[in-house]
Amino acid sequence: MKIIKTRKSRLKEVDLENLGFGEIFSDHMLSMEYKEAKWGVSEIIPYGPIEINPAICSLHYAQIIFEGLKAFRGKNGSIYLFRPQKYHERMDQSSKRLCIPEVGLDVFMEGLKELITLDKEWVPRKRGYSLYIRPFIFATDDFLGVKVSDTYRFLIITGPVGAYYKEGINPVRLITPGEYVRASKGGLGAAKTPANYAATLLPAEEAQKKGFTQVLWLDGVERKYVEEVGTMNLFFLIGDELVTPPLEGTILPGVTRDSVIHLAKDWGIKISERRLSIDEAFTASRKGSLKEVFGSGTAAVISPVGEIHHEGKKIIVNSNKIGPLAQKLYDEITGIQYGEKPDKFGWRYTI
Ligand code: COI
Repeated sequence: MKIIKTRKSRLKEVDLENLGFGEIFSDHMLSMEYKEAKWGVSEIIPYGPIEINPAICSLHYAQIIFEGLKAFRGKNGSIYLFRPQKYHERMDQSSKRLCIPEVGLDVFMEGLKELITLDKEWVPRKRGYSLYIRPFIFATDDFLGVKVSDTYRFLIITGPVGAYYKEGINPVRLITPGEYVRASKGGLGAAKTPANYAATLLPAEEAQKKGFTQVLWLDGVERKYVEEVGTMNLFFLIGDELVTPPLEGTILPGVTRDSVIHLAKDWGIKISERRLSIDEAFTASRKGSLKEVFGSGTAAVISPVGEIHHEGKKIIVNSNKIGPLAQKLYDEITGIQYGEKPDKFGWRYTI
């Protein structure tokens, strides 16, 4: 791997004790190009603008995929990744759906190791903070006909981050999307690709204007089954059953979702991957059996839901406070991520 270091680090200009999400980028990035039916050699170069032509096809037709994972600094100074192989697996699945050539696991892991080692001082020391890692691949043919591109670029950029939602781990307010749909079966919903996120912008903006944090997505056909929340997977604790929507092609297979399922099983909680209608959730609330609702995602880890509005009715969950299960999951997952708790499932990867 070729490494070209920056002449002047920007680290001194950054307050690593006071961070938002996704605003600051580390000194270096990884870059690799695909042409003549193969990936070239990866290189690490200074983070900065890249030159593209206005006709680059991914700007027009969005043949792009991305990932998002994090590096954490333990108290002893070690740097850990959380389940990087699982993120790579999902990147491969998204690549297949978007006709993008896959990047090998070895190249991915080696690239992450080199890049994070080089920019290790960018990994924040503050608990709750981390280095967000954004690998992405975009089609680079300069061609305006709609077709699969022959050339691609793979980049990994990183940046120190704090909480994703300004609420942090405080409960969020949600509203169902009315007429809008995020994904339908057979579509792109299970792939981490920009189009999915673009589809959510207008509904999210309208929800925010009404004072909500995010949209609670319902299925695209019957518009009655819960699917995701904002950019996260979703869990409902009803009685003693923890319910999450099944992966049937419209929902992103979240790595945090998978981790929650593993932990819940390990703790002896009854976990069901099944369809759950919004009416069932409202009925459970009325009967007093809806104990907790929370989202799970890489960026926010666990995000409790305090309020859900649907067709003019609303429910308040757990008196608008984080519930014991959401708190336990948050503590366990972050404990493993920061090297504070035993890593029973082998999820932690030391850089
Ligand atoms: C997540 O990690 O939960 C996300 O999908 C958010 C990301 C798109 C910033």
